[in-house]
Amino acid sequence: MAKKKTILDLQKMKANGEKAAWMVMYDSCMASFAEDAGMDMILIGDSMGMIIYGYQGTVPVTMDMSIAHCQGVRRGAPNTYLIGDMPFGAYHESTEDAVHNAVRFLKEGDVDAVKLEGGVAVADKIEAIAKAGIVVFGHIGLTPQSSAAMGGFKVQGKSTETAKAVIEDAIAVYKAGAKTLLLEGVPEETCAFVHKILPIPVYGIGAGAECDGQAILAADALGVYKNFTPKFAKKYCSIGDIATQGMKDYISEVKAGTFPAPEHKYKFTGDKDEFNKFLAEYEKNLDL
Ligand code: KIV
Repeated sequence: MAKKKTILDLQKMKANGEKAAWMVMYDSCMASFAEDAGMDMILIGDSMGMIIYGYQGTVPVTMDMSIAHCQGVRRGAPNTYLIGDMPFGAYHESTEDAVHNAVRFLKEGDVDAVKLEGGVAVADKIEAIAKAGIVVFGHIGLTPQSSAAMGGFKVQGKSTETAKAVIEDAIAVYKAGAKTLLLEGVPEETCAFVHKILPIPVYGIGAGAECDGQAILAADALGVYKNFTPKFAKKYCSIGDIATQGMKDYISEVKAGTFPAPEHKYKFTGDKDEFNKFLAEYEKNLDL
């Protein structure tokens, strides 16, 4: 069994040019598959709002929902580095609130680090959490929790001016004490520059290949989420199609009476004659 990684391992991987692969998921079964596959990290993302709960976005996700999913993932992947995703509202009101909720992620959710969205605007929250001794993953660029303010799920940093804002966010996150940074939905050139200037591991999701590793939603990579697949996501298999076919086969077999078959049935091990006599007598006296 592989030893659980630490932030030092992630830094070593960067130093050795070894890319980290992480995936976003929310439950114990999927987490056990990830651990068996040798996933470097799992993010219990607030995208659960859409993938698990069917909301339009991530805003309705609460701390209690997130922590319950972290606990499930930890049970399925006891030896994998886990990142809890601080949901909208969990770190916006005050630094005290931010630290309190980050601590909850570690104590109750049993994760190794927390991630929060935003750059310059949340640098004080990152600093407070990092000072409490908690590993913070920054997340900038296309930040889904602020999609309303961005006018939708829009790629960021496509022009010199907006790329400058992304770079300034990256520097603010680093200076505030984040130990790694995730860039989402930015052109490769912008990500490559941030990767070049920052000494911490810089990861991407929809940010090209010029960084220290990639994140992807299991729902996108494995073909679970039918509503939308982003341009940057690659589908490695189609669990959704396999599941739909399996369900169709199940429905047909139930209707045809071919499921359950003999191998799915429990055997009666008592005296059959005695049992049949008992049933006949019971039925005779039945008053329904
Ligand atoms: O919640 C999530 O899935 C995320 C990824 C987009 C990184 O934050």
